[in-house]
Amino acid sequence: MSEQSTGLKGNKLAGRTALVTGGTRGIGAAITRSLAEQGADVAMGYGGDHERARQFQEEMQRQFPEGTFTVHSGNVGKATDARQTFADVVEQHGKVDILVNNAGITRDRTVLKMEDDDWDAVLQVNLSGTFYMAQAALKHMLERGTGRIVNVSSIIGEMGNVGQANYAASKSGLFGLTKTLAREALFHLERAGKLSPDSIGVTVNSVTPGYVNTEMVEAVPEKVLEKIKGKIPMARLANPDEIARVVHFLCADKSSYITGQVWGVNGGMDM
Ligand code: CAA
Repeated sequence: MSEQSTGLKGNKLAGRTALVTGGTRGIGAAITRSLAEQGADVAMGYGGDHERARQFQEEMQRQFPEGTFTVHSGNVGKATDARQTFADVVEQHGKVDILVNNAGITRDRTVLKMEDDDWDAVLQVNLSGTFYMAQAALKHMLERGTGRIVNVSSIIGEMGNVGQANYAASKSGLFGLTKTLAREALFHLERAGKLSPDSIGVTVNSVTPGYVNTEMVEAVPEKVLEKIKGKIPMARLANPDEIARVVHFLCADKSSYITGQVWGVNGGMDM
């Protein structure tokens, strides 16, 4: 699991405010920590486990006493919740410089057994949730002329997987959404006369983790996981920190020329 850190490690994101959906556990918690290590204040979205969210918030505040950490509960898959969360974060922090759409769920079943509700629930959270949050963020970032959006997709969106038609479709959907958001950000900046080489601009990218050591992967049946591990050239699962470092790299001011890209972090699985 993710290595515990005890304070700041860099200042790439000093003065920035990030909003990480699903930011209190799994890959999201590692992303929250890595953004904080670079000096960002972080607002963490979470689904419903209030106690766990509160504990993680306290842990972050203890480790990064100079930072500000807030938690916001809501279902990103519900448009009203997503918009309310974004508005609450802006109200409490004054702005959002970075949005990381990380919240995601699985409901694994082969297509022949998949219920309509399995399909709808996964598409709603993973794909529609990202759209709702990104729509709110894009408006805010275009007004300010700067911002970073990172959408956490998955290698499953690139390769498909037995038992994951809903999840794979949602995660491939993020590629088209990411590229369109990236293009529209530039389109609007240009129209507003804000597309300047001196500005860090508004960029939108996607990261595609492979199999990561989190509760989501722990739920995969042992015999299936053994087969999967056999297909990873690196011969191991990823540590959540190994995904998070790519996210904070993309969020840095100096990553201003990277947009509309899909960044694989998968131990070589898709070579
Ligand atoms: N790759 C290769 N073989 C697979 C497989 C996969 N992804 N999934 C299942 N199989 C194999 C099983 O090993 C099994 O083989 P044998 O009969 O030879 O033993 C066969 O397919 C049938 O599997 P089950 O007995 O498990 O069938 P089931 O109908 O009971 O369950 C399932 C099907 C729900 C898809 C179940 O296999 C399952 O949960 N698989 C895991 C799916 C998965 O990989 N989820 C990833 C979650 S992590 C994630 O999503 C994060 C991310 O971004 C990577």
